[in-house]
Amino acid sequence: MQIESGISLKPYNTFGLPAVAHTLVRVAGDADVRGVVDHPQLGRAAKFILGGGSNIILTRDMPQVVLKVEVRGMQLVEERADAWIVEAGAGENWHEFVAYTLAQGWPGLENLALIPGTVGASPVQNIGAYGIELADRFESLDAVDLMTGRGVTLGKETCGFGYRQSVFKNLLAGRSVITRVRFRLPKPWQPVLGYLDLERKIHETGITAPSAQQVFDWICAIRRAKLPDPGAIGNAGSFFKNPIVTPEQCRDIIGRDPEIVHYPLPDGSVKLAAGWMIDACGWKGKHVGQAGVYEKQALVLVNRGGAIGSEVMLLATAIQESVYGRFGIRLEPEPVVV
Ligand code: EPU
Repeated sequence: MQIESGISLKPYNTFGLPAVAHTLVRVAGDADVRGVVDHPQLGRAAKFILGGGSNIILTRDMPQVVLKVEVRGMQLVEERADAWIVEAGAGENWHEFVAYTLAQGWPGLENLALIPGTVGASPVQNIGAYGIELADRFESLDAVDLMTGRGVTLGKETCGFGYRQSVFKNLLAGRSVITRVRFRLPKPWQPVLGYLDLERKIHETGITAPSAQQVFDWICAIRRAKLPDPGAIGNAGSFFKNPIVTPEQCRDIIGRDPEIVHYPLPDGSVKLAAGWMIDACGWKGKHVGQAGVYEKQALVLVNRGGAIGSEVMLLATAIQESVYGRFGIRLEPEPVVV
Protein backbone atom coordinates (compact mmCIF):
# COMPACT_ATOMS: atom_id res chain seq x y z
CA MET A 1 0.00 0.00 0.00
CA GLN A 2 1.47 3.33 -1.08
CA ILE A 3 0.61 6.52 0.83
CA GLU A 4 1.02 9.71 -1.22
CA SER A 5 0.86 13.33 0.03
CA GLY A 6 -0.01 16.68 -1.53
CA ILE A 7 -1.64 15.18 -4.61
CA SER A 8 -3.49 17.45 -7.06
CA LEU A 9 -7.00 16.15 -7.68
CA LYS A 10 -7.48 18.25 -10.83
CA PRO A 11 -6.77 15.31 -13.17
CA TYR A 12 -9.02 13.08 -11.04
CA ASN A 13 -12.31 15.01 -11.35
CA THR A 14 -14.06 15.35 -14.71
CA PHE A 15 -15.03 19.00 -13.99
CA GLY A 16 -11.29 19.73 -13.81
CA LEU A 17 -11.59 21.69 -10.55
CA PRO A 18 -8.44 22.42 -8.54
CA ALA A 19 -8.05 20.83 -5.09
CA VAL A 20 -5.27 19.04 -3.24
CA ALA A 21 -5.52 15.80 -1.26
CA HIS A 22 -3.26 15.97 1.77
CA THR A 23 -3.14 12.15 1.78
CA LEU A 24 -4.09 9.78 -1.02
CA VAL A 25 -4.05 5.99 -1.07
CA ARG A 26 -4.63 3.98 -4.25
CA VAL A 27 -6.84 0.97 -3.64
CA ALA A 28 -6.15 -1.96 -6.01
CA GLY A 29 -8.07 -4.55 -3.98
CA ASP A 30 -9.74 -5.42 -0.67
CA ALA A 31 -6.34 -5.88 1.02
CA ASP A 32 -5.47 -2.21 0.42
CA VAL A 33 -8.69 -1.09 2.13
CA ARG A 34 -7.87 -3.35 5.09
CA GLY A 35 -4.35 -1.89 5.10
CA VAL A 36 -5.86 1.57 5.56
CA VAL A 37 -8.33 0.42 8.25
CA ASP A 38 -5.53 -1.28 10.24
CA HIS A 39 -3.05 1.59 9.78
CA PRO A 40 -2.21 3.33 13.10
CA GLN A 41 -2.91 6.89 11.79
CA LEU A 42 -5.01 6.44 8.66
CA GLY A 43 -7.34 3.95 10.37
CA ARG A 44 -8.87 6.66 12.56
CA ALA A 45 -8.79 9.52 10.02
CA ALA A 46 -11.83 10.65 8.05
CA LYS A 47 -11.93 9.14 4.55
CA PHE A 48 -13.20 10.23 1.15
CA ILE A 49 -13.80 7.61 -1.54
CA LEU A 50 -12.91 8.77 -5.03
CA GLY A 51 -14.04 6.82 -8.10
CA GLY A 52 -13.82 8.28 -11.58
CA GLY A 53 -14.46 11.78 -10.16
CA SER A 54 -17.34 12.27 -12.60
CA ASN A 55 -19.93 13.14 -10.00
CA ILE A 56 -18.15 15.47 -7.58
CA ILE A 57 -17.71 19.21 -7.28
CA LEU A 58 -14.53 20.04 -5.39
CA THR A 59 -14.79 23.37 -3.58
CA ARG A 60 -11.75 23.01 -1.29
CA ASP A 61 -8.66 20.97 -0.51
CA MET A 62 -9.30 17.58 1.06
CA PRO A 63 -8.13 17.08 4.66
CA GLN A 64 -9.61 13.56 4.60
CA VAL A 65 -7.64 10.53 3.47
CA VAL A 66 -8.64 10.14 -0.18
CA LEU A 67 -9.04 6.51 -1.23
CA LYS A 68 -8.71 6.34 -4.99
CA VAL A 69 -10.38 3.15 -6.12
CA GLU A 70 -8.38 1.40 -8.85
CA VAL A 71 -9.65 -2.21 -8.64
CA ARG A 72 -9.42 -3.80 -12.13
CA GLY A 73 -10.78 -6.85 -13.94
CA MET A 74 -13.84 -7.77 -16.04
CA GLN A 75 -15.24 -11.28 -16.41
CA LEU A 76 -18.29 -13.47 -16.89
CA VAL A 77 -18.89 -15.13 -13.53
CA GLU A 78 -21.98 -17.19 -14.38
CA GLU A 79 -24.15 -18.01 -17.35
CA ARG A 80 -27.73 -18.83 -16.40
CA ALA A 81 -30.59 -19.88 -18.68
CA ASP A 82 -32.10 -16.41 -18.32
CA ALA A 83 -29.06 -14.14 -17.83
CA TRP A 84 -25.34 -13.50 -18.05
CA ILE A 85 -23.80 -12.45 -14.74
CA VAL A 86 -20.81 -10.22 -15.45
CA GLU A 87 -18.43 -8.76 -12.86
CA ALA A 88 -16.13 -5.75 -13.05
CA GLY A 89 -13.62 -4.17 -10.69
CA ALA A 90 -14.82 -0.85 -9.26
CA GLY A 91 -11.93 1.02 -10.87
CA GLU A 92 -12.79 -0.01 -14.44
CA ASN A 93 -13.97 2.77 -16.74
CA TRP A 94 -17.76 2.50 -17.14
CA HIS A 95 -17.96 3.08 -20.89
CA GLU A 96 -15.10 0.65 -21.60
CA PHE A 97 -16.92 -1.96 -19.53
CA VAL A 98 -20.16 -1.42 -21.52
CA ALA A 99 -18.19 -1.78 -24.79
CA TYR A 100 -16.44 -4.92 -23.47
CA THR A 101 -19.73 -6.64 -22.53
CA LEU A 102 -21.13 -5.96 -26.01
CA ALA A 103 -17.97 -7.22 -27.73
CA GLN A 104 -18.20 -10.44 -25.70
CA GLY A 105 -21.81 -10.96 -26.81
CA TRP A 106 -23.42 -10.04 -23.47
CA PRO A 107 -25.74 -7.14 -24.35
CA GLY A 108 -27.98 -5.20 -21.97
CA LEU A 109 -25.95 -2.15 -20.91
CA GLU A 110 -25.93 -0.37 -24.30
CA ASN A 111 -28.38 2.38 -23.24
CA LEU A 112 -25.86 3.37 -20.57
CA ALA A 113 -22.99 3.89 -23.04
CA LEU A 114 -20.71 6.93 -22.66
CA ILE A 115 -21.74 7.75 -19.08
CA PRO A 116 -18.52 9.14 -17.58
CA GLY A 117 -17.07 7.57 -14.45
CA THR A 118 -16.16 4.16 -13.09
CA VAL A 119 -17.99 0.89 -12.48
CA GLY A 120 -17.72 1.46 -8.71
CA ALA A 121 -19.52 4.79 -8.91
CA SER A 122 -22.38 3.37 -10.99
CA PRO A 123 -24.40 1.95 -8.07
CA VAL A 124 -23.65 4.95 -5.82
CA GLN A 125 -25.77 7.30 -7.90
CA ASN A 126 -27.75 4.55 -9.66
CA ILE A 127 -26.72 5.89 -13.07
CA GLY A 128 -29.47 6.00 -15.63
CA ALA A 129 -30.08 7.11 -19.19
CA TYR A 130 -32.40 6.48 -22.11
CA GLY A 131 -34.91 4.27 -20.32
CA ILE A 132 -32.56 2.09 -18.22
CA GLU A 133 -31.04 2.61 -14.82
CA LEU A 134 -28.32 0.62 -13.17
CA ALA A 135 -30.80 -0.96 -10.71
CA ASP A 136 -32.49 -2.70 -13.71
CA ARG A 137 -29.25 -4.59 -14.47
CA PHE A 138 -27.75 -4.92 -10.98
CA GLU A 139 -26.98 -8.30 -9.41
CA SER A 140 -24.76 -7.63 -6.37
CA LEU A 141 -21.58 -5.88 -5.23
CA ASP A 142 -18.65 -6.44 -2.91
CA ALA A 143 -17.62 -3.72 -0.49
CA VAL A 144 -15.23 -3.36 2.42
CA ASP A 145 -16.42 -1.69 5.61
CA LEU A 146 -14.17 1.21 6.59
CA MET A 147 -14.74 0.75 10.35
CA THR A 148 -14.12 -2.99 10.62
CA GLY A 149 -12.24 -3.86 7.41
CA ARG A 150 -14.76 -6.66 6.82
CA GLY A 151 -15.86 -7.57 3.31
CA VAL A 152 -19.58 -7.75 2.56
CA THR A 153 -21.66 -8.71 -0.47
CA LEU A 154 -24.79 -6.62 -0.93
CA GLY A 155 -27.81 -7.57 -3.07
CA LYS A 156 -30.26 -5.21 -4.72
CA GLU A 157 -32.65 -4.90 -1.75
CA THR A 158 -29.85 -3.73 0.57
CA CYS A 159 -28.64 -1.03 -1.83
CA GLY A 160 -31.77 1.15 -1.53
CA PHE A 161 -31.77 2.24 -5.18
CA GLY A 162 -33.92 5.23 -6.15
CA TYR A 163 -33.69 7.93 -8.80
CA ARG A 164 -29.96 8.91 -8.73
CA GLN A 165 -29.97 7.56 -5.17
CA SER A 166 -28.67 4.62 -3.13
CA VAL A 167 -27.66 3.68 0.40
CA PHE A 168 -24.09 4.70 -0.56
CA LYS A 169 -25.25 8.31 -0.89
CA ASN A 170 -26.83 8.37 2.58
CA LEU A 171 -26.58 5.63 5.27
CA LEU A 172 -23.29 4.17 3.98
CA ALA A 173 -21.82 7.42 2.58
CA GLY A 174 -18.07 7.33 3.20
CA ARG A 175 -18.43 4.14 5.26
CA SER A 176 -17.73 1.38 2.78
CA VAL A 177 -15.58 1.03 -0.31
CA ILE A 178 -17.19 -0.74 -3.26
CA THR A 179 -14.56 -3.00 -4.82
CA ARG A 180 -16.48 -5.12 -7.39
CA VAL A 181 -19.91 -4.94 -9.00
CA ARG A 182 -21.88 -7.73 -10.71
CA PHE A 183 -24.49 -7.13 -13.38
CA ARG A 184 -27.40 -9.32 -14.47
CA LEU A 185 -27.87 -9.04 -18.23
CA PRO A 186 -31.17 -10.76 -19.11
CA LYS A 187 -31.50 -13.37 -21.87
CA PRO A 188 -32.94 -13.22 -24.43
CA TRP A 189 -31.83 -9.63 -25.02
CA GLN A 190 -34.64 -7.14 -25.66
CA PRO A 191 -33.87 -3.60 -26.82
CA VAL A 192 -35.17 -0.72 -24.68
CA LEU A 193 -36.31 1.85 -27.24
CA GLY A 194 -39.07 3.81 -25.49
CA TYR A 195 -37.09 7.04 -25.06
CA LEU A 196 -38.05 9.82 -27.46
CA ASP A 197 -34.51 10.33 -28.82
CA LEU A 198 -34.32 6.61 -29.70
CA GLU A 199 -37.77 6.64 -31.32
CA ARG A 200 -36.45 9.48 -33.49
CA LYS A 201 -33.45 7.35 -34.56
CA ILE A 202 -35.79 4.48 -35.55
CA HIS A 203 -37.85 6.93 -37.58
CA GLU A 204 -34.78 8.50 -39.24
CA THR A 205 -33.06 5.21 -40.14
CA GLY A 206 -36.08 2.97 -40.75
CA ILE A 207 -34.38 0.30 -38.56
CA THR A 208 -37.21 -1.03 -36.37
CA ALA A 209 -35.37 -4.05 -34.93
CA PRO A 210 -31.87 -2.72 -34.13
CA SER A 211 -29.07 -4.91 -32.75
CA ALA A 212 -27.51 -4.07 -29.38
CA GLN A 213 -24.50 -2.64 -31.24
CA GLN A 214 -26.86 -0.42 -33.26
CA VAL A 215 -28.52 0.87 -30.06
CA PHE A 216 -25.04 1.47 -28.57
CA ASP A 217 -24.04 3.50 -31.66
CA TRP A 218 -27.29 5.51 -31.51
CA ILE A 219 -26.81 6.27 -27.80
CA CYS A 220 -23.22 7.41 -28.43
CA ALA A 221 -24.41 9.69 -31.26
CA ILE A 222 -27.30 11.13 -29.19
CA ARG A 223 -25.05 11.86 -26.22
CA ARG A 224 -22.26 13.34 -28.37
CA ALA A 225 -24.79 15.68 -30.00
CA LYS A 226 -26.00 17.25 -26.77
CA LEU A 227 -23.61 16.44 -23.93
CA PRO A 228 -20.04 17.78 -23.64
CA ASP A 229 -17.16 15.28 -23.73
CA PRO A 230 -15.48 15.64 -20.30
CA GLY A 231 -12.13 14.98 -22.03
CA ALA A 232 -12.58 18.25 -23.93
CA ILE A 233 -14.88 20.37 -21.70
CA GLY A 234 -14.89 19.75 -17.93
CA ASN A 235 -18.33 18.82 -16.55
CA ALA A 236 -20.08 16.43 -14.15
CA GLY A 237 -23.05 15.40 -16.32
CA SER A 238 -26.46 16.66 -15.22
CA PHE A 239 -25.86 19.18 -12.45
CA PHE A 240 -29.38 18.95 -10.97
CA LYS A 241 -31.83 16.09 -10.50
CA ASN A 242 -35.11 16.23 -12.38
CA PRO A 243 -37.53 17.24 -9.58
CA ILE A 244 -40.44 14.97 -8.74
CA VAL A 245 -43.68 16.75 -7.81
CA THR A 246 -47.29 15.90 -6.98
CA PRO A 247 -49.89 15.93 -9.81
CA GLU A 248 -51.42 19.06 -8.17
CA GLN A 249 -48.09 20.93 -8.23
CA CYS A 250 -47.61 19.88 -11.85
CA ARG A 251 -51.11 21.05 -12.87
CA ASP A 252 -50.42 24.35 -11.17
CA ILE A 253 -47.17 24.83 -13.15
CA ILE A 254 -48.79 23.71 -16.43
CA GLY A 255 -51.50 26.33 -15.79
CA ARG A 256 -48.78 29.00 -15.92
CA ASP A 257 -46.30 27.27 -18.29
CA PRO A 258 -48.22 24.89 -20.58
CA GLU A 259 -45.05 23.94 -22.46
CA ILE A 260 -43.22 22.42 -19.48
CA VAL A 261 -41.71 18.99 -20.30
CA HIS A 262 -42.99 16.46 -17.74
CA TYR A 263 -43.26 12.69 -17.37
CA PRO A 264 -45.95 10.98 -15.26
CA LEU A 265 -44.42 8.25 -13.04
CA PRO A 266 -46.03 4.90 -12.18
CA ASP A 267 -46.76 5.99 -8.57
CA GLY A 268 -48.83 8.99 -9.72
CA SER A 269 -46.16 11.63 -9.14
CA VAL A 270 -44.67 13.63 -12.02
CA LYS A 271 -41.04 14.19 -13.02
CA LEU A 272 -40.25 17.63 -14.45
CA ALA A 273 -37.41 18.28 -16.91
CA ALA A 274 -35.04 20.52 -14.94
CA GLY A 275 -33.09 21.24 -18.14
CA TRP A 276 -36.23 22.66 -19.71
CA MET A 277 -36.91 24.90 -16.68
CA ILE A 278 -33.32 26.22 -16.57
CA ASP A 279 -33.46 26.81 -20.32
CA ALA A 280 -36.81 28.61 -19.96
CA CYS A 281 -35.18 30.94 -17.40
CA GLY A 282 -32.66 31.91 -20.10
CA TRP A 283 -29.53 30.29 -18.64
CA LYS A 284 -28.10 28.51 -21.70
CA GLY A 285 -24.59 29.86 -22.43
CA LYS A 286 -24.54 32.14 -19.33
CA HIS A 287 -21.63 32.00 -16.91
CA VAL A 288 -20.19 33.07 -13.56
CA GLY A 289 -16.44 33.48 -13.93
CA GLN A 290 -15.25 30.40 -15.77
CA ALA A 291 -18.22 28.22 -14.76
CA GLY A 292 -20.88 28.14 -17.46
CA VAL A 293 -24.18 26.60 -18.56
CA TYR A 294 -23.68 24.32 -21.58
CA GLU A 295 -25.15 25.79 -24.77
CA LYS A 296 -26.78 22.55 -25.93
CA GLN A 297 -28.15 21.22 -22.59
CA ALA A 298 -28.98 23.63 -19.79
CA LEU A 299 -28.88 20.88 -17.15
CA VAL A 300 -25.12 20.55 -17.60
CA LEU A 301 -22.70 23.04 -16.07
CA VAL A 302 -19.27 23.24 -17.68
CA ASN A 303 -15.74 24.42 -16.99
CA ARG A 304 -14.92 27.10 -19.56
CA GLY A 305 -11.24 26.76 -18.61
CA GLY A 306 -9.72 27.26 -15.17
CA ALA A 307 -13.01 27.35 -13.21
CA ILE A 308 -12.88 26.94 -9.44
CA GLY A 309 -15.44 25.17 -7.27
CA SER A 310 -16.82 28.36 -5.72
CA GLU A 311 -17.66 29.77 -9.17
CA VAL A 312 -19.55 26.58 -10.00
CA MET A 313 -21.51 26.82 -6.76
CA LEU A 314 -22.27 30.54 -7.26
CA LEU A 315 -23.66 29.74 -10.71
CA ALA A 316 -25.62 26.77 -9.34
CA THR A 317 -27.16 28.92 -6.58
CA ALA A 318 -28.15 31.64 -9.04
CA ILE A 319 -29.85 29.01 -11.24
CA GLN A 320 -31.66 27.52 -8.24
CA GLU A 321 -32.94 30.96 -7.21
CA SER A 322 -34.12 31.82 -10.69
CA VAL A 323 -35.94 28.48 -11.17
CA TYR A 324 -37.51 28.84 -7.70
CA GLY A 325 -38.62 32.38 -8.52
CA ARG A 326 -40.38 31.33 -11.70
CA PHE A 327 -41.64 27.78 -10.94
CA GLY A 328 -41.60 27.54 -7.13
CA ILE A 329 -39.40 24.41 -7.44
CA ARG A 330 -36.14 23.90 -5.54
CA LEU A 331 -33.61 22.12 -7.74
CA GLU A 332 -31.36 19.69 -5.94
CA PRO A 333 -27.74 19.23 -7.12
CA GLU A 334 -27.01 15.77 -8.49
CA PRO A 335 -23.22 15.54 -7.92
CA VAL A 336 -21.74 15.38 -4.45
CA VAL A 337 -20.46 18.82 -3.42
CA VAL A 338 -17.30 18.51 -1.33
N1 EPU B 1 -34.61 20.39 -22.48
C1 EPU B 1 -34.71 21.68 -22.91
N2 EPU B 1 -33.62 22.50 -22.81
C2 EPU B 1 -32.46 22.08 -22.29
C3 EPU B 1 -32.35 20.75 -21.82
C4 EPU B 1 -33.45 19.91 -21.92
O1 EPU B 1 -35.76 22.11 -23.39
O2 EPU B 1 -31.52 22.86 -22.22
C5 EPU B 1 -35.75 19.49 -22.64
C6 EPU B 1 -35.46 18.46 -23.73
O3 EPU B 1 -35.80 18.93 -25.01
C7 EPU B 1 -36.30 17.29 -23.31
C8 EPU B 1 -36.29 17.37 -21.79
O4 EPU B 1 -35.91 18.71 -21.45
O5 EPU B 1 -37.62 17.43 -23.77
C9 EPU B 1 -35.36 16.37 -21.13
O6 EPU B 1 -34.06 16.52 -21.67
P1 EPU B 1 -33.12 15.25 -21.97
O7 EPU B 1 -33.86 14.21 -22.76
O8 EPU B 1 -31.85 15.77 -22.53
O9 EPU B 1 -32.87 14.57 -20.58
P2 EPU B 1 -32.66 15.19 -19.13
O10 EPU B 1 -33.89 14.93 -18.33
O11 EPU B 1 -32.17 16.58 -19.20
C10 EPU B 1 -31.79 12.94 -18.09
C11 EPU B 1 -30.66 12.50 -17.22
C12 EPU B 1 -29.38 12.35 -18.06
C13 EPU B 1 -29.65 11.30 -19.13
C14 EPU B 1 -30.85 11.76 -19.98
C15 EPU B 1 -31.26 10.69 -20.97
C16 EPU B 1 -31.05 13.35 -14.98
C17 EPU B 1 -30.67 14.33 -13.94
N3 EPU B 1 -30.44 13.46 -16.15
O12 EPU B 1 -31.48 14.25 -18.58
O13 EPU B 1 -28.37 11.84 -17.21
O14 EPU B 1 -28.51 11.14 -19.97
O15 EPU B 1 -32.00 12.01 -19.13
O16 EPU B 1 -31.85 9.62 -20.30
O17 EPU B 1 -31.91 12.49 -14.73
C18 EPU B 1 -26.59 12.50 -15.75
O18 EPU B 1 -27.23 12.03 -14.82
O19 EPU B 1 -25.45 13.01 -15.57
C19 EPU B 1 -27.15 12.51 -17.09
C20 EPU B 1 -26.54 13.10 -18.12
